[in-house]
Amino acid sequence: MTDLSKLEADLGAQIEAAADVQALEALRVAALGKSGSISGLLKSLGSMSPDERREQGPLINGLRDRVSARLAERKAAVEAAELDARLAAERVDLSLPAPPRRKGGVHPTMQVLDEMIAIFAEMGFSLAEGPDIEDDFHNFTALNFPPKHPAREMHDTFWLPENEQGERKLLRTHTSPVQVRVMQKTNDKLPGWIASGQEPPIRIIVPGRTYRSDSDATHTPMFHQMEGLVIDKAIHMGHLKWTVDTFMSRFFETPAVETRFRPHHFPFTEPSAEMDVRCDRSGGEVKIGQGDDWLEVAGCGMVHPNILRNCGLDPDVWQGFAFGFGIDRLGTLKYGMPDLRDMFASDRRWLEHYGFSPFAMPNPATGLS
Ligand code: DAH
Repeated sequence: MTDLSKLEADLGAQIEAAADVQALEALRVAALGKSGSISGLLKSLGSMSPDERREQGPLINGLRDRVSARLAERKAAVEAAELDARLAAERVDLSLPAPPRRKGGVHPTMQVLDEMIAIFAEMGFSLAEGPDIEDDFHNFTALNFPPKHPAREMHDTFWLPENEQGERKLLRTHTSPVQVRVMQKTNDKLPGWIASGQEPPIRIIVPGRTYRSDSDATHTPMFHQMEGLVIDKAIHMGHLKWTVDTFMSRFFETPAVETRFRPHHFPFTEPSAEMDVRCDRSGGEVKIGQGDDWLEVAGCGMVHPNILRNCGLDPDVWQGFAFGFGIDRLGTLKYGMPDLRDMFASDRRWLEHYGFSPFAMPNPATGLS
């Protein structure tokens, strides 16, 4: 085999073996580039005798043309194969089912809150709000909890560290401090959303987060309360009873709801009562309005004259009643949840099961849930 045909055979084998466009380009430069093997042969023609050149010229030029042609042919084949591979890899299978779309829902506590607001709004109550971080005055003192009184201990208060003014704030243990904020005239510069200084007659509800260092199946360290306050003239216990009873049968959407009022003590009401609802818990599921069990759902009473005085109202002119419902507790009763702590466990399976559609806003006319 002559040198030329060996070179052609070697180059041919390398071209066939080249797997991609880059490898082919490297081969082209090595053979036909400025200092390539075939370019070197072409250059050597200049130093040959005319006879030699006549013989070698066509051979070398032919070799160059054939190698160029093979390179081009192989490049086209490699490019076609690369395109086929890309098309196969990037193909979209339109027949595959779409991945599930994540959807949000309304948390049961917020659903119950909306239901309660809808019912009380229909009865003529408006909304008031107060801060989660309260001071001792609003949470206890103004509500007639004497200093060092054991009732303060009963609240299992989360106290905050002392601030620069030597004052210890706390996480409010109930929504009742907002009663004081609503009634009391104050010169404090407060953000607009914090209720203050309303003139009676007053008819408000106060939903919000409350905190106590307590945790079991019916208690969580953070929970939600709905406070109610009515201040007017000639208000008596009958008004209170009708209001909370009416609320209960609207909320549970059955006239069969039965409540009872147990005498109790709260420093800020006199007389005070706890309201229980009749229910049946024998079958592992809570049924309202039947059975022999009673579950506490609210505290209530007639506003103590001291609270009115603390807020600058004359108890001989104004009277009122107040109540405080546990929102999450009512939710567990209505929607049959055995453990209050699940409300705050953020378990997605639980939330998907008990959550509500954001499109179904509770409405007393068309249905609550
Ligand atoms: N604040 C009370 C508590 O959390 C509940 C309560 C009782 C609120 C009687 C009231 C009331 O407004 O009148 O234990």
